[in-house]
Amino acid sequence: MDLFVAAIETTSTTVTWASFYLATRPDIQSRIFEEIKANVGTDRFPSMQDKQSLVYTEAFIMEVLRMSNIFILVAPHAPVTDVCIRGYHIPKGMQMFPDVNSVLSDPAVWGDPENFRPERFVSERGILLKPDEFIPFFTGRRNCLGESLARMELFLFISALVQKFELMPPKGEVLDIKDIVGIFGVTHTPKPFNIRAILRHTKA
Ligand code: HEM
Repeated sequence: MDLFVAAIETTSTTVTWASFYLATRPDIQSRIFEEIKANVGTDRFPSMQDKQSLVYTEAFIMEVLRMSNIFILVAPHAPVTDVCIRGYHIPKGMQMFPDVNSVLSDPAVWGDPENFRPERFVSERGILLKPDEFIPFFTGRRNCLGESLARMELFLFISALVQKFELMPPKGEVLDIKDIVGIFGVTHTPKPFNIRAILRHTKA
């Protein structure tokens, strides 16, 4: 039950955010598609073996996780003994909600956290960067148990989605990346929006 509850809402919410970013940023979407076309082709679906070569696609997923920040406040944690951190006394048992947003959108870390920019996770030599501050699955011993499964699912689903479909705003409508409003609940979800998914004429 714990695994299903923790897995379903989180992964589907992240895919919803990803669909929004793809539909509003055709430039990013075509760069992902070109990367998939060049490294995987269109005769078969991407697999986990392709992850190493789909650097920009993976950087896009990381930027979705950073910007959408689906757990603005992580589950409460409490120390098992009294502790003192940077002068703050935290008594045993005191419940604390870590504010992940303060890290994922810290200008001192990201420079321009308000901009959706997957390139921030790619080095000049084209290598995927993994900054310590990238903590959408939080950190420490009790961090997300499903991180590797979630990252696998997101990679397989999103790369196959872009390989198969072109996502765009509804006919005659303009959907701006800045228009999206997040609803703060159990997870941080985007307000409902409409997009079109047009089948690309590929073989996979
Ligand atoms: C995009 C997808 C996901 C995100 C962003 C995410 C994020 C998180 C975060 C921030 C926590 C709290 C960690 C903490 O309190 O230190 C957590 C806990 C947890 N997650 Fe995930 N999660 C995702 C997907 C999944 C999946 C797919 C599973 C299971 C298959 C899963 C299972 C769990 C479990 C069991 C915990 C509680 C761990 C514990 O208390 O020891 N999560 N997740």
